[in-house]
Amino acid sequence: MRGLFITLEGGDGAGKSTQIRNIERFFEEKGLVVTHTREPGGPPIAEKLRAILLDPANSEMDAVTEMLIYAAGRAQNVREIVEPALERGEIVICDRFVDSSIAYQAYGRQLGDMVAEVNRRATGGLTPDLTIWLDIDPETGKARATHDKDPDRLELESTAFHTRVREGYWSIAESEPDRFKRIDASGTIDEIKDEIYHFLEELCKARGL
Ligand code: TMP
Repeated sequence: MRGLFITLEGGDGAGKSTQIRNIERFFEEKGLVVTHTREPGGPPIAEKLRAILLDPANSEMDAVTEMLIYAAGRAQNVREIVEPALERGEIVICDRFVDSSIAYQAYGRQLGDMVAEVNRRATGGLTPDLTIWLDIDPETGKARATHDKDPDRLELESTAFHTRVREGYWSIAESEPDRFKRIDASGTIDEIKDEIYHFLEELCKARGL
């Protein structure tokens, strides 16, 4: 049987890494094999592209260049990690996927419809079975983020940019309510975990797992 593809979205300070570990635990406790990957990044080629994308020194990067590099890394991640693991019947958890490009490049950078089209080509149309969006307003997120690293190129963008990103996520939530689940990430770690587990249980029930 083909595996399940689950993705996580959310800005700085939303607690994405903690909840990814909780999702992994959920499936491991059911005795299922979990493969974890991330975007930008994943396989070595895509990790090199990640370094280019996030380097604050690359302030000259054009918005279309940026969008294509995200899509290029994604094409590699899908073909090298995600699809083979799904074929093996594993649970694939990806930290960010196409929805990030819709939010950040289509809405944030205002590149519009071309982003979805390019990403359809990059992924061969692969769509997650479930996406969890940990929604937090950019100011609260910034205050909560524990900065053990310097802000990356995208984090340095204006509040107006991050407000458009959030609008992008809202529009996906409205157009794909069955796949794309919003969780208010201003709650505690345990509250967020319980909401996520509810959606995971629903998905498992629907797939007979
Ligand atoms: P991360 O901090 O979650 O690893 O993500 C790195 C940054 O890249 C984050 O600011 C969001 C941004 N991003 C995009 O702009 N487009 C994309 O397609 C992806 C995957 C991430």
